[in-house]
Amino acid sequence: MTKVLEVTNLTGGYGAIQILNGIDLYVDHGEFVTIIGPNGCGKSTFIKIIFGMANRYEGKIRYKNKDITGWRADTLVNNGIAYVPQTNNIFPSLTVYENLQMGGLNLLNKELSERISWAYEIFPDVEKRSKDVAESLSGGERQMLAISRALISNPSFMMLDEPTAALSPKFRELIIHKISELRNMGITVLIVEQNARLSLSLSDRGYIFSNGKVIHTSTALEILNDKNIGRYFLGTQN
Ligand SMILES: Nc1ncnc2c1ncn2[C@@H]1O[C@H](COP(=O)(O)OP(=O)(O)OP(=O)(O)O)[C@@H](O)[C@H]1O
Ligand SMILES: [Mg+2]
Repeated sequence: MTKVLEVTNLTGGYGAIQILNGIDLYVDHGEFVTIIGPNGCGKSTFIKIIFGMANRYEGKIRYKNKDITGWRADTLVNNGIAYVPQTNNIFPSLTVYENLQMGGLNLLNKELSERISWAYEIFPDVEKRSKDVAESLSGGERQMLAISRALISNPSFMMLDEPTAALSPKFRELIIHKISELRNMGITVLIVEQNARLSLSLSDRGYIFSNGKVIHTSTALEILNDKNIGRYFLGTQN
């Protein structure tokens, strides 16, 4: 099977502050993979290094058999990789529609409006708010907008950093199920999630990070059924 993402021995951090201590992680074509782990263990930093937003010291990043180590974010996006960051993932002062337009600045008008219509089909709640300023959206609507915006680039691989953080159980379920639908439509998914049980219940495999290292990886089912992991990493929520 083609590996969509293959990261080997990744170390890095912020300037001289080392956060990742050698991560090996892969995502196969068509998979839904969840990363979990305690606050501050380096989950966001891992994705940020792939997107050039934190410093890589050593290690290789491959995407569909190409070495993409050090590629610029816009080049990654043009090659089918989308990233929905944990914070600041929308432009609050722009309307919902303008936010979506920002996701496709390099597209011709016709293509852009087709992609926006496609995002609206997946997230009808976003379409209902299309003329509203994004800062007036609820937390759940904001996350749906951020994911919709990432879809405008027509990705084949999406990385999402805690898309359900601070949301009500209803929105958490809705968003994780939507992401699972995207996977069923052929988009490979790597997600960082605090609502571990919910995300793992729809995932193929999972990784547990601690202190900038992978301390466990297996099928999602094995993680969900492991009592020790449950006690330390899955919490009681979902
Ligand atoms: N811009 C930065 N400069 C310096 N240190 C940072 C920066 N951003 C994050 N850190 C530190 O890097 C470590 C890992 O942070 P990271 O955001 O990757 O954790 P995380 O696993 O995503 O946590 P959370 O579950 O809270 O989102 C933390 O100690 C954090 O304080
Ligand atoms: Mg994080």
